[in-house]
Order: sequence, then C-alpha cells, then structure tokens
Amino acid sequence: MTTTWQPVPGLAFGGDYNPEQWPRETWDDDVRLMREAGVSIVTLGVFSWGLLEVADDAWDLGWLDEVIDLLHANGIAVDLATPTASPPIWLHHDHPEILPVNRSGLRYHQGGRLQWCPSSPVFRDYATRVATVLGRRYATHPAVRLWHVSNELGGGNRHCYCEVSSEHFRRWLEQRYGTVAALNDAWGTAFWGHRYASFDQVICPLDSETTQNPGLLLDFDRFSSDALLEHFLAEKTALREAGVTAPITTNLMVGVRPSVADYASWAPHLDVIANDHYTIAADPRRERDLGYAADRSRGLASGQPWLLMEHSTGAVNWQPRNRAKAPGELVRNSLAHIARGADGALFFQWRASLAGAEQWHSAMVPHAGTRTRIWREVCELGGILQRIGEVAGSVVAGAQAAILADDVSGWAWGHGQKPLNGFPLHSLARAWSEALTDRGVTSDVVPPEAPLSGYRLVVVPGLYLASDATAEAVAEAARGGATVLVTHLSGVVDEHSRVREGGYPGAFRDLVGAFAEEYLPLQADERVSLDTGWTATDWTESLVVTDAEVVGRYESGPLAGSPALTRREVGTGTAWYCSAGLEADSLDRLVATVLTDAGIAPDVPVAPGLEAVRRISDDHAWLFLLNHSTEVVTVDATGQDLVTAIEASGHITLAAGGVAVVRER
Ligand code: GAL
Ligand code: ZN
Repeated sequence: MTTTWQPVPGLAFGGDYNPEQWPRETWDDDVRLMREAGVSIVTLGVFSWGLLEVADDAWDLGWLDEVIDLLHANGIAVDLATPTASPPIWLHHDHPEILPVNRSGLRYHQGGRLQWCPSSPVFRDYATRVATVLGRRYATHPAVRLWHVSNELGGGNRHCYCEVSSEHFRRWLEQRYGTVAALNDAWGTAFWGHRYASFDQVICPLDSETTQNPGLLLDFDRFSSDALLEHFLAEKTALREAGVTAPITTNLMVGVRPSVADYASWAPHLDVIANDHYTIAADPRRERDLGYAADRSRGLASGQPWLLMEHSTGAVNWQPRNRAKAPGELVRNSLAHIARGADGALFFQWRASLAGAEQWHSAMVPHAGTRTRIWREVCELGGILQRIGEVAGSVVAGAQAAILADDVSGWAWGHGQKPLNGFPLHSLARAWSEALTDRGVTSDVVPPEAPLSGYRLVVVPGLYLASDATAEAVAEAARGGATVLVTHLSGVVDEHSRVREGGYPGAFRDLVGAFAEEYLPLQADERVSLDTGWTATDWTESLVVTDAEVVGRYESGPLAGSPALTRREVGTGTAWYCSAGLEADSLDRLVATVLTDAGIAPDVPVAPGLEAVRRISDDHAWLFLLNHSTEVVTVDATGQDLVTAIEASGHITLAAGGVAVVRER
C-alpha cells in the first residue's frame, strides 16, 4: 500500500495554531507544550490574512517566518493555510463589492468570516495573490508539509445572489444546457408559465414569498458548488505555479446532513480528503454520527487514508447547549476517526482564545491551562497515537456493505415543497449505518458513482434523486450477486429533480418489481404496524407488486393488508424494497433479516456499546475496539494491544469507556 500525502511519519497529531493571537513569549511555551503532548503538525495561518498583508500589497511576513522556523526547530511540521477564509478589513473597505449578497438581495457587511462572493473576479485576484506570495516564500521550507486552501469553503459563503453571481450562473447554465429550450425542458418551465426566452432572463433564485422551481434551485446549488470549487482550484493553481510541490487540500464538512458542496465532485481535486467533524450535543448516539461521517470521508477518499483536520477536545460554542466531553470521550472520538481510516487527528484549536468570536470554544490548551483534565487527555492521546503510529497508511478492512449517500440528492429533497416537508431524509442512511455497526458489519458510505462490485450488500437509503447511471449500477450489483435494499423515497426524481413517471421508486421500480401508486406520509404521532411485528413512523406507501415476493404487509391503518416489504431475485442476487419508515428496533430486525438473506456474518466482535473496526496493511491487521458503554466489555481478540502493550490471547477486556488497538496475530 503506498500513500503519499502523509505530512509526517506515523499518525498526524495537532491542531489549528493561531500564534498571532498571543504575545511572542507564549510561542515558546506553545512549542514546549506541543512537544510534551507529542504534537507532530499544526495548521497555521488560517485566519491571519489581515496580519500578513497589512494593507493592499504591503506584507508583514516576518512573524510567520519566525513561527515556522520555531516549529521546525522543534520538529513540528506545518500545514500552511492560505488565509482567504477571513479577508482583511482594508479589503472590504476598498472593495465592498466582494461581500456576498444574501437571498433577500442584501449585501453583507464586514465582520464575519468567509465574507466573499465565490464568483468575484476582484476577490479571486486578491486571494490568488496572497496564495502566490505565501507559495513563493514557503514552498521549499522543510517544515511545510501540507497546504490548506482557505477554510471550510461554503461554510458562510455557500450561496451568493449578487449580480456577478447571477451572470456567472447564466454562463454556467449556458454551458450545461446549450440552448434555452433545453433549460426550459429540464426545469419544466411550462409550470406557472415561467418560460425563459433567453439565458439572460435567468437570475439567482432570490427570495419570493412562494416556493420556486426545484430544477432552478437544484442547479443553483450545483452552480454554487462549482463556483467554490473553481475558487479552490484557482488558489491551488496559484500555489503550484509558485512552486509548491507538497500535497494541497481544503477542509471539508462531511457529516450526516447533505454537505454545502457536492464533495464527490471535489474529491478528485484534493490531494488528500480532509474533514472537520464536531459531535452534536443533543444527539444521544454522538459516536454514531461521528462514525458515519468518518465512513463517508473514507468513501470520498475511495477507501484510502484521509485526514481528520478538525474536531474538538471539549465543548464547541456554536450549538444551543454546548456539551463538554465526558472523561475519555476525546480519546474515543479521535480513535474512532482513525479506526475508520483517518491517518491523523487534528483539533480546532491549539490554545483557547481569550478574545474574538470563538473565545468560548474548547482547545488542546484550555483557558485554565495545563492543570486540566483536557490537557491530560490531550497528552494521553498524543502518547496513544505514537504507540499506534504503525497503522498509518493502512486501510479499513472487511466492508461487506455499501451505503449510498449523495449531497445532490439531499439538496433535491430539501428544496421546495414535498410530501413530508422538513423530513431529514439523510437520517435514513445514518440509521442503516448505525444498525449495521451494531451488528458488527463494517460498511463503506460511498457516493453513487463509486464502484459497487465486491459488496455483498448495497443499501440505497432515501436516495431521492438517482440518475439512470446510478439505477443501472445498482441493478448491475444485484444481477452480480449482491443483496440490494432500496428504501422509500429513493429514485423518485431524475437529475433535473423531475419526477420519474410510472410510480415510485421510479429509477429502481423495475429492479424491485414493485411500485407505489401513492405516498401516505404519517402524522407526527402516528404509528402503523406491520405483520412482521415491526412499526413504522413518518412514512408509508401503497405498494403494487408486479414481480416480487411480499415479505411483510401493513397490518394497521388505511393500508392494512397491502404490501410493505418486498424481495425479488435478480440474476444471482436479490433486490428488496422497504416502503415503510421503520422505527429503530424494527429497522434493526430488517437489517438482521437482510444480512441473513445475504449470508453476511459480522466481521468484527459485537457487544452493546462497542465500536469495532479493523484496519489492514499488506502485512498486518489492527482491530480497533472502543467501548462507548458504561459497562465492562469482554470480546474475542488475539494479539498485542498497542495502547497498553498487553498481550491478548483469545479475549480482551475493556473498561467502561476504554479503548484498545490490537495488532492481531
Ligand atoms: C470549524 C472551523 C474552525 C472553527 C471550528 C469551531 O467549522 O473550520 O475554524 O470555527 O469550526 O468548531
Ligand atoms: Zn456574488
């Protein structure tokens, strides 16, 4: 296995470092503590544009030289950011036209971050210039091992509705459709008679009191993703032209919800997939949210190692009630990402800020300093990462299941009016991921374009929009022997967000041998039972079976007696269709049924609250065991636990909240 992007030997460990917020004497303390904790790399410069380019083309790079040299002298590598996520105040004063315009047509003001229009040629010039200046200066600095373009692109400037963006959008549409007739056709503009006579009549979907055309909204999202990608590529090109040869990435925000950009289309342009993930305080199974996001990041990386660019040591500041992490949670969270293919665990941020917008965000060095549990756990983690460093470069093994997840499909469901408005359709994919994890089955979460051969189970969970190519790839997987499970609200619309005619789930209708003639979403407190003993909430549909076996029927409600769950043999595989929104316990039983049908046995040990994942290289296998429960857990394992150096022969016992990384024999 050869992977080439890794900035440091072993696993990367560190975080965003903002020395510009601190007096010079603190820097010495910083590097001393970094060494104490085992920090190997820091992300530098993310928000320091205004302190580097102090006025238009007036540069103060001396302090950055000094920090980079200091880090280098202490053996700490640098992930150098282009600082374009936070334009300087002077730039907003000189060029207010770079500020984004919101959906109401109002221009934002200085003071936030990512306050720039992705289509602005003026901003592009300034951004590529600062990238060029930094690239030329630091391309050959031995400490600089990775480049970090901007920060969370789209996390503040996803959509801009200014006139420059409108013009860019029109050109983008012209390229996509060629003729305005093709655009009218794709969007179905006969509806409300909203026919466009020329591309010039199109504008960004600025606010209206009523809902707007879903085709327009979807293309605006696609365009906005492409505009941000174009910006990323412009900065990346500037860095390359300035002589940068190290890997270049940008930090994504891959989570459970649809992303701000179509990351599957970005992935080929990133030298390493880097993700930021923050657990959600109100989520009772936060570790599963994390696991799903990590599996998705690995899916974007085509199964290769990726980098956890940010997570937190404790509470964040941007949720309604910011939860402190429980003792040990920091270590478990980091190791969960690594178990699922990350070759490093970095944090936002190194030292907690005293002032500024994020003064209430946790950090590796808390406000209270090093006499703290967080600091001790940071040091503990640093030690563990050194002891398990040999896993770097290895890959996650044994995924027998693929779960399809697609940002564009998620956007299409989120636009305009739907049979069940506000329903978080993306939660279906996470529910499947959770249920499979609980049953010891490793799954890859992949974009629909990913190769599906080799998976014994392919889950299509609420993939509202599916292209013909996706439908064909899924059918091909079934014909080739896979068990395919399609859930309600999949394959309903085509890539223009137009309903596929002839009954739902349009794109998968022939494959599953059944179609819904009507959707019957449930009211919030309604429950419907199935004759399998399961219960459904949120969703039911009246299903007509054309060529499939009925495995379960609705037992109560208006659909009593009609099919709910079907199974069809296809080539050497099978295609299941589940029309009902199953509650968690019921979904778990469906998962068990489907796993039996597919002949899939657990590939890792199973115990309540246990998260188990295996990474492998050409020569070794490492079993990651994370006990998220409050009980002691004993599971089968043989080999050396690299965390404790204890030999496990046959079984290993994990304390409540405990972790092990067993190099298996
Ligand atoms: C991320 C961002 C960081 C920091 C962090 C706080 O989204 O990239 O700069 O703001 O959130 O959780
Ligand atoms: Zn704009």
